[in-house]
Amino acid sequence: MSDYRPVPADRFTFGLWTVGWRGVNTFGDAVRPPLDGADAVRALAGLGAHGITFHDDDLVPPGSSDSDREAILKRFRAALEETGLAVPMVTTNLFTHPVFRDGGFTSNSRDVRRYAIRKVIRNIDLAVSLGAETYVCWGGMDGAESEAGKNDHAALDRLREAFDILCGYVIDQGYDLRFAIEPKPNEPRGDVLLPTVGHALAFINELAHPEMVGVNPEVGHEQMAGLNFTHGVAQALWAGKLFHIDLNGQRGVKYDQDLRFGAGDVKEAFFLVDLLESAGYEGPRHFDFKPPRTEDMSGVWESASACMRNYLILKEKAAAFRADPEVVAALEASRVPELSVPTLGREESLADVLAEEIDLAEVGERGYHFERLDQLALEHLLGVR
Ligand code: GCO
Ligand code: MN
Ligand code: MN
Repeated sequence: MSDYRPVPADRFTFGLWTVGWRGVNTFGDAVRPPLDGADAVRALAGLGAHGITFHDDDLVPPGSSDSDREAILKRFRAALEETGLAVPMVTTNLFTHPVFRDGGFTSNSRDVRRYAIRKVIRNIDLAVSLGAETYVCWGGMDGAESEAGKNDHAALDRLREAFDILCGYVIDQGYDLRFAIEPKPNEPRGDVLLPTVGHALAFINELAHPEMVGVNPEVGHEQMAGLNFTHGVAQALWAGKLFHIDLNGQRGVKYDQDLRFGAGDVKEAFFLVDLLESAGYEGPRHFDFKPPRTEDMSGVWESASACMRNYLILKEKAAAFRADPEVVAALEASRVPELSVPTLGREESLADVLAEEIDLAEVGERGYHFERLDQLALEHLLGVR
């Protein structure tokens, strides 16, 4: 058993807006002081994280003069250099300012859409200069409360246009950067465009440069729609599109809770870590959580540490589950390995299948013993095996 102490090689990263969240919500004022970017870098490095990510406006307050911006970036870069913390991903705030009240890339207002593209491009240049490989696009304001005010067909056209423009820019600049679309079903808009991993994957296929665009699924975003997050991630992996991931916790179908990773549905977290580790996902394990308003700054760092600790605990549990000889035998009894065998053998043709007969009475009686397998997983998770 390890001491579950994270090291940079674990590739844990945090959004500056997560540990820096001041607790402002629909009902309550800020409960914590602002967190300076350079201070966040030092604190996260001290906890064993690999990297930090940010929205343009998290790091450089909107409205800053060019010289203020330079001064902030200088301090941020110095902290990165001092600690060795990386910036693997960067994103844009296309939601806070009132101009984005009807969205960024899909606002009905053409001048807003053009401003959104300028805002992203300015921040892409910064992202690349900091070594980012992934640029996340979360279009939380790109949606509607009513069908009356939004032409979905046109909105999808404009969304595609935006990604085609951005990919074209990255190609022209010779940047080594990929985009990751983050789906969310609702919040802040009543309904958001590209609500699930599946919608995003289908959209990407319609782009001019689909190879440059993948997904950034978030645990809570699929779960708030009652969907199975691990299935969504599995399909993204299957399509070669898991470019990034937002790890957090959510309990059931309700508002976006952004709990620390492991809180909420712990069994789903177990199978998610099992999948990421066994599939050889090599990207950052990025935490996008909101430390609850009950916490002061020391509670914020405790919950950030707990995100990483929970991941490492679940990783150990998943490895023990896979290595358990009883589990290996149970998987066999449940015919799990058989699903990896192609339905048609290499030397066979459809004629072989058509010529075959099945004993429906006998095969219809076959039990799969998934309950036993699931119980073994649960017992590993509960620590009794
Ligand atoms: C949410 C979203 C955001 C995005 C972030 C990246 O909680 O609704 O996950 O946190 O991840 O804005 O652009
Ligand atoms: Mn969220
Ligand atoms: Mn997110």
